[in-house]
Amino acid sequence: MKILVTGGAGYIGSIVVEQLIEAGESVVVFDNLYQGHRAAVHPDAIFVEGDLADRAAVDALFDEHRPEAVMHFASHTLVGESMENPFRYLGENVTNGLNLLQSAVRHDVRRFILSSTANLFDDPERIPIDEAERIVPGSPYGESKYILERMLHWLDRIYGFRYAALRYFNAAGASTERGEDHHPETHLIPIVLSVALGRRDKVIIFGDDYPTRDGTCVRDYVHVIDLAQAHILALRALDRGSRVYNLGNGQGFTVKEVVETAREITGHPIPAEVGPRRPGDPATLIAGSDRIRRELGWEPKYPALRDIIESAWKWHQSHPNGYS
Ligand code: UFG
Repeated sequence: MKILVTGGAGYIGSIVVEQLIEAGESVVVFDNLYQGHRAAVHPDAIFVEGDLADRAAVDALFDEHRPEAVMHFASHTLVGESMENPFRYLGENVTNGLNLLQSAVRHDVRRFILSSTANLFDDPERIPIDEAERIVPGSPYGESKYILERMLHWLDRIYGFRYAALRYFNAAGASTERGEDHHPETHLIPIVLSVALGRRDKVIIFGDDYPTRDGTCVRDYVHVIDLAQAHILALRALDRGSRVYNLGNGQGFTVKEVVETAREITGHPIPAEVGPRRPGDPATLIAGSDRIRRELGWEPKYPALRDIIESAWKWHQSHPNGYS
């Protein structure tokens, strides 16, 4: 199948592209390289540089490459930034997604996979958080993803769109060739590892007064290769109907536990200092992923935090300057 991957030069997108190609699919990557890296794009993928804000370019992309399915990763993705610059999210994330959906409909493409987020669950009534949990977006970022999920719901009803919305908890880890390289980096694991590499002096822990076992936020870290496999399973199941899945390992680790595990793996003391809370951060996010396990047989290959951090550490050691 020919698959259009927006954001296929970014962290999760590029690793999904790699896994799709290894699974024998053909891939067209569309990316504006705002956060993505040309070097992250698998050499067997067709690469088109462009912006989803440019409707003519998006239409031309569908005209020229005739994809049969779309995976949509291209997005602003930072909870904290969205609390400071809401229109980047409520505006660009939404209108860019809308442009893509309109082009897909116009070109008769009916298969769509959306990168969604655990940031839909700011105030969960039950942990682990399954798909029955009420939706309370935690930030304009989460809201922008929820708006796209709702658009997909209506396109299914009206045009017979078949979609999967995959709500990732905390994507982490790396493949041998591809890993996490954001500018600026805001994510915990790459920041912790950059201290171990001597690129930063210390980690700031954003708040230790949350109602958790050590006062720091609890997150469910899921290996990016396991996320990629979930995309492939979801794509193959689309003809049987649309679906929404929460994706994580079902295990939560505090910020302090992540730092401690990284100390053990790297052998570096990784100094850490407690600072204020970061706006928009919920205390605990742990996924209930029984639905995708049951319906699609998804089984994470790398559920252990140690293996996840180890894979990231190997990548960062072999790419000390990221992709540059
Ligand atoms: N953290 C620190 N110090 C840092 C960086 C992060 O203490 O320097 C903490 C955060 O406060 C949070 C945890 O580490 O408690 C994880 O933070 P990340 O920034 O790595 O990840 P987030 O949980 O904020 O966000 C990630 C994705 C979002 C997604 C969200 C859903 O980046 O796109 O998971 O859970 F919406």
